[in-house]
Amino acid sequence: MNQWLWLGFVACLYAAGTEAASNLVCYYDSSSYTREGLGKLLNPDLEIGVQFCTHLVYGYAGIRGDNYQAHSLNENLDIYKHQFSEVTALKRKYPHLKVLLSVGGDRDIDVEHPNKYIELLEGEKVRQAGFIQSAYALVKNYGFDGLDLAYQFPRNKPRKVHGEIASAWKSIKKLFTGDFIVDPESALHKEQFTAFVRDVKDSLRNDGFLLSLTVLPNVNSTWYFDIPSLNGLVDFVNLAAFDFVTPARNPEEADYTAPIYHPDGSKDRLAHYNADFQVDYWLKQGFPSTKLNLGVATYGNAWKLTSDSGLEGVPVIAHTEGAAPEGVQSQKPGLLSYAEICGKLSNPQNQYLKGNDSPLRRISDPTKRFGTIAYRPVDGAITEGIWVSYEDPDSASNKAAYARAKNLGGVALFDLAYDDFRGQCTNDRYPILRAVKYRL
Ligand SMILES: *[C@@H]1O[C@H](CO)[C@@H](O)[C@H](O)[C@H]1NC(C)=O
Repeated sequence: MNQWLWLGFVACLYAAGTEAASNLVCYYDSSSYTREGLGKLLNPDLEIGVQFCTHLVYGYAGIRGDNYQAHSLNENLDIYKHQFSEVTALKRKYPHLKVLLSVGGDRDIDVEHPNKYIELLEGEKVRQAGFIQSAYALVKNYGFDGLDLAYQFPRNKPRKVHGEIASAWKSIKKLFTGDFIVDPESALHKEQFTAFVRDVKDSLRNDGFLLSLTVLPNVNSTWYFDIPSLNGLVDFVNLAAFDFVTPARNPEEADYTAPIYHPDGSKDRLAHYNADFQVDYWLKQGFPSTKLNLGVATYGNAWKLTSDSGLEGVPVIAHTEGAAPEGVQSQKPGLLSYAEICGKLSNPQNQYLKGNDSPLRRISDPTKRFGTIAYRPVDGAITEGIWVSYEDPDSASNKAAYARAKNLGGVALFDLAYDDFRGQCTNDRYPILRAVKYRL
């Protein structure tokens, strides 16, 4: 065989060996274990989901505000009730599964030390050594395969899409007064974060532990991630490309919360509030596509509508009033699990109900670009209007197809507990997880 043919042959083998779009990274937020009612996810149900996952990311560990050590956020569950060990023990039954422990996310809320993540970076090696040792010990002692850093960086500021002239002036003023800059030291923090990740990686290397990053929603990658340098340090990156718009951040108007592509530019939407922009940014910086996983949420963001929000349901929806009331299962205002949303759509039990119990109308997305919507406008006897942007199995499957088309590593699902893990909707357990799996 001549050497070029041989090289081609080897390249083919290599390409087959690193086949893209095969990762299904499943987030498991253990706080779902302590929820009451139907939203409570116990281990037998977890196990059913895990069979579809290549990686399980156990959320969340935190950082102690006083000494910056990594620690369990719920020792009673994780350690005394052995949940860390029980979850990592799933690997015995599912040997393909890798289980990582995630630090941070939106669970490590600490009102006394709101800046501890940044302080840890600024504390340099002295402060970081304690974190690194304690994180390593958690991974090692409880049988994890590695560590995930869902690092809390300052979030970008929300901006109104439906701006009147007055607010255009306001934003120009902001530009000059500079208060849209959430972190004047972002360049320094980016440098410090790279050095920090390098040291974390060094601590994990001897045991062959994995290291991944979760880019949390509304953390601007341009500010905090030195992508070319991180490439050599992490095994993969999960981009939480959703929650671009939320009832908490944008109480007065509702929009697609996780479109794949930029919806209709004429509406003055921000160009970076879509998955494609985020993915493209990482790829343009030279990050290998096969190490990038596209984050998909299994929950919807739900706004409360007013009589001024109109009857159409097509975003951008104006005159909303913040978060819709919490669902019985997920118990968080403005958030509905897929099971809860599905239960509110028209079905034999609710199709003849009127007023505030009437079913939501679903607007599907034939373009496959923006995601699914369901809503019930304030109208006549209906006083409790609601508008929710979410993924269903179809739209999640579109995202998996997008991940494939872009030759990404796969999909990261946030999280198992918000999928319909009981099969309340169509008797299919974990319908979103399954839809993604079959499309990858
Ligand atoms: C970060 O924010 C700036 C605006 O301040 C924007 O131009 C840029 O596209 C954002 N980058 C990402 C990756 O979202």
